Amino acid sequence: MTQTIKRKTVAVLTSGGDAPGMNAAIRSIVLACHHHQINCIGFYHGYNGLINQEFTQLTPNDVINIIQRGGTILKSARCPEMLSIDGVKQAANSLIKLKVDALIVIGGDGSFNGMLAIKDLWPGQLIGLPGTIDNDLDGTDYTIGFSTAINTAIEAIDKIRDTADAFDRVFVIELMGRHSGHIAFNVGVACGAEQIISFENFSPEHADAKLEAIIQDIKRHQVNHSHSYLIVVAENLWPGGVLTLSNALKQEQTIDSGTCILGHIQRGGSPVAKDRILATKLGIAAIDAFLKGQTDIMLGELKSEIIATALQDTIKHKKLVAEDLVSAHENILALQAQHKQS
Ligand code: F6P
Repeated sequence: MTQTIKRKTVAVLTSGGDAPGMNAAIRSIVLACHHHQINCIGFYHGYNGLINQEFTQLTPNDVINIIQRGGTILKSARCPEMLSIDGVKQAANSLIKLKVDALIVIGGDGSFNGMLAIKDLWPGQLIGLPGTIDNDLDGTDYTIGFSTAINTAIEAIDKIRDTADAFDRVFVIELMGRHSGHIAFNVGVACGAEQIISFENFSPEHADAKLEAIIQDIKRHQVNHSHSYLIVVAENLWPGGVLTLSNALKQEQTIDSGTCILGHIQRGGSPVAKDRILATKLGIAAIDAFLKGQTDIMLGELKSEIIATALQDTIKHKKLVAEDLVSAHENILALQAQHKQS
């Protein structure tokens, strides 16, 4: 008598803002599932696909040549339905109906809140992988997508520097990051920005004083050396937005200011090596965690070690921009100022 062994089923979805490297993570999950004879399905369009049972079987053939591709082959979405109990119930019912044993979500804090909501209604294993360009999850030094996003922004700003330099212009550049300054500070330091305006060193109620300080600094800059002046600003921070800041600078007779909102260019493009490697390691670790029976965790990399952190501890926004990065920016500006006076 032949006995059929029921294969376990792992489902994966990508949710929230897409991040370069998500495809590399999907690839690694699918290949690891295949190796362990685990059935792997992918839900499309984030939690929407889970709620609507829009899914596909994922086999190694589906993940050939995707490691280098930005975006996500599973598509992504924000899903307001997951904020209501009815939506969460529908999501849990889909998992029950499709006999899913584990759900792997690659996303950011909003996506992990979705998992925490499902937790009470579904007995399966929940495993998160940090996928967001914002780098604002605790339990991992870097999120999948962050390294590519900052490299993309640096490349763009280097180009802005060329044209700004040619005209001795000020440029105000808005960077993504939602409510965290990891992108703004890392990019600002790497581009040698004359100003970084981010959550770590600025609060909107001091905008008037900051504007005055920037104007005086630009004027000093113009006297001592004539060249470009770049102001990098984290999104959602300057009252009225970066155009307001740029226009306020332009009120000064001697200041010619341009504006650039880098926007979604930061989310696209082929992932850099760091993101591909991180995503590959975390995808394999997710299937290992599944086989060990782990649940309600996110897998991340801390000091080169793959670590599981309780899901609810990953979304507390405790991982601040490193103090030494903030002071590096301040120190370099002080050194530059000294040089100009000499
Ligand atoms: O979370 C990633 C992110 O790109 C943030 O940096 C940004 O604030 C947000 O998503 C933009 O979201 P959307 O593409 O939905 O406008």
